[in-house]
Amino acid sequence: MSQYWSDIVHDLTPYVPGEQPKVQDLIKLNTNENPYGPSPKAIAAINAAATDSLRLYPDPCSERLKRAIARNHRLNVNQVFVGNGSDEVLAHIFQALFQHSRPLLFPDITYSFYPVYCGLYGIEYEAIPLDRYFEINIHDYDRPNGGIIFPNPNAPTGIPLELARVETMLQKNRYSVVVVDEAYVDFGTESAVRLIEKYPNLLVTQTLSKSRSLAGLRVGYALGHPDLIEALTRVKDSFNSYPIDRLAEEGAIAAIEDVDYFETTCQKVIATRESLVKRLQAMGFVVLHSGGNFIFTKPPKGNGAEVAAQLREKNIIVRHFKQPGRIAPYLRITIGTDLQTQALVDAISDII
Ligand SMILES: Cc1ncc(COP(=O)(O)O)c(C=O)c1O
Repeated sequence: MSQYWSDIVHDLTPYVPGEQPKVQDLIKLNTNENPYGPSPKAIAAINAAATDSLRLYPDPCSERLKRAIARNHRLNVNQVFVGNGSDEVLAHIFQALFQHSRPLLFPDITYSFYPVYCGLYGIEYEAIPLDRYFEINIHDYDRPNGGIIFPNPNAPTGIPLELARVETMLQKNRYSVVVVDEAYVDFGTESAVRLIEKYPNLLVTQTLSKSRSLAGLRVGYALGHPDLIEALTRVKDSFNSYPIDRLAEEGAIAAIEDVDYFETTCQKVIATRESLVKRLQAMGFVVLHSGGNFIFTKPPKGNGAEVAAQLREKNIIVRHFKQPGRIAPYLRITIGTDLQTQALVDAISDII
């Protein structure tokens, strides 16, 4: 607290990211990073870009990166917006497209950055309860609103929403922007990108942090109608002209173009997820259906916090959300390598 703070800073409740421990040799399954490194072609491209040219500003429009993303999704360049991680892209979306007199709608159990952006930008919101199976009931969103946002698959539950339901939601909501946050979509969830041509109020966000293993590079993007993209560009150019630096642009293009590496690593993560689910279920854990690179699971005694603390003592970090209510008994576990998963299963069977 300080007398120099603005009123808005006094009132902020910032987002708390998962721990990035300084200790070496931990098995880190708490922030949904990819256990496999980025494409070697991305690393080579970043190294090749580390030259004297770094004295020059990067392309403020990230034109080549936008073209690579557009090609990958079979869209036009004017349907692509890029930013410094999808968190930054989301921040611009909240400011550019959600500041209205009606409330923004999102699930009550979801990515905890959404209410933080609402606080930052003074956006009123309604948190819509998930149903008793932790699923999004699309009919609950059929009410006046200034926008809708949800992750697909949802986080931290991991549960995907079928594309047909996403489309029904869009059909019933033509007057405000619907954002589908597809941070984890590449691990087995159907993308809404192909609905973009049909619905000018649909915006899809994706990131290179998860399926392309580039959380450290900070590249995310939004896909949608050129009018929505223009709104984001106007905010971006009033905030930071150069969100994508020269190294990030080269690394991101190479990662997007290395389709084989991307598909192989995603498949490996999905296979490990499925085997971990079976092994946890065999030990009496409840595991929600996941379409992401993580699972949301309840130990047999419902003592998520305690199991997380005991795993930590065994040098394994998973995420427990310290909020009261339905998710308190659960743990969110990021999918690691097969070796890390074996260590996790061994540690859990010791603990329980
Ligand atoms: C649902 C969801 N959306 C967006 C993000 C932001 O990802 P990034 O800023 O790394 O692109 C995350 C990060 O964990 C997430 O869980």
